Amino acid sequence: MLEELVKEGIKNIPPYIPGDTAESVTEKYGIAPEDILKLASNENQFGPPPKAVEAMLAEVGRVHIYPDPYCIELRKKIGVMNGFDDSGDNVVIAVGASGILSLLGEVFIQKGDEVIFCEPTFGAYAGAVKRNDGTPVALPLTEDMKFDLEAMYNAITEKTKMICICNPNNPTGTVVDSEELKAFIHKVPENIIIVVDEAYIELSSNPEVKSMVSEISDDTNVVVARTFSKLYGLAGVRLGYAMCNKEMHAILQKCTSVFTGSRVALAGAMAALDDEEYIKNTKAAMKEGREYLTEEFSKLGFFTYPSETNFLYVNTGYDTAAFAEACKKYGLIIRGNFEYSRITVGRMDQNKKMVEIIKKVIESNEVPRRA
Ligand SMILES: Cc1ncc(COP(=O)(O)O)c(C=O)c1O
Repeated sequence: MLEELVKEGIKNIPPYIPGDTAESVTEKYGIAPEDILKLASNENQFGPPPKAVEAMLAEVGRVHIYPDPYCIELRKKIGVMNGFDDSGDNVVIAVGASGILSLLGEVFIQKGDEVIFCEPTFGAYAGAVKRNDGTPVALPLTEDMKFDLEAMYNAITEKTKMICICNPNNPTGTVVDSEELKAFIHKVPENIIIVVDEAYIELSSNPEVKSMVSEISDDTNVVVARTFSKLYGLAGVRLGYAMCNKEMHAILQKCTSVFTGSRVALAGAMAALDDEEYIKNTKAAMKEGREYLTEEFSKLGFFTYPSETNFLYVNTGYDTAAFAEACKKYGLIIRGNFEYSRITVGRMDQNKKMVEIIKKVIESNEVPRRA
């Protein structure tokens, strides 16, 4: 009965299947919680930034008072850091970058609207489209696992309302060429909204990888989504943001819920932006970790796609789901629900432990090869 009352688009959404938790692996394989290596959700393995912890603790004593309803201080700070004026009116705060994607769907997508993106990618684009009765137009990635700009351009129809580009892409870690992306943005008709999800871009150390914030102007409908969950180590705090032109901002801002960011969250985010040492260390460790793991995996005969993120997309040659399950028996949790394995880059001690576990999995001879 209740099912009949549900919006059409929502009926077709499969239930969310969360990744394995450390607790579930302890329960299933009897591994002590302290021996579990959870490298499946692309979290920052360095813990939260020390400056953010300090700021959040200081704010706890004030949580009986509502926070800043419009997150204005944080919006101003992010705006200025990204080259906008200090009004805060180019920045929208939400509950994670996921919240931004939901907001964009809620504000812009209705029945009949098409939204183009490539797959595999972050599932939130398809989710936001379907929840609002839009039509996802999911195209394959290129052979080298990048968003296919040409195919996306050719897929534009009169019904196209939005194009989503995950750059770097989750789960592949790959980026499209920045100059090609800029040209694409300016070629797409002006009545189409272009969402560039840069959740991971700050983890890239490659100077060729450029943010599309530079392309935000009164003449483009570009929305850049970012998050505090990755570089800034605040996934549990749940804050993300969009940057866009002021016209777009006015529309999105009036549809965000007031009091989006809790006092503790806002204090943590403000301080995290200033924790230069943490930021520098995380970026350096991710570069080192990517290089180390890519080399170790290559010695094992695996192929790793070039990544600008804190995870690697790895063709191990083994059945991906069975490989992930076998790793769990040794306490290592990675993602096995894509075509290839998606493995979060951790601290160096974790990376080394991971390689040892993977060697044991290979030696066990238990995992079937890919069909
Ligand atoms: C590509 C991409 N975008 C956005 C997000 C959402 O991040 P959050 O909602 O934690 O800010 C994620 C999370 O993993 C992601 O992989």
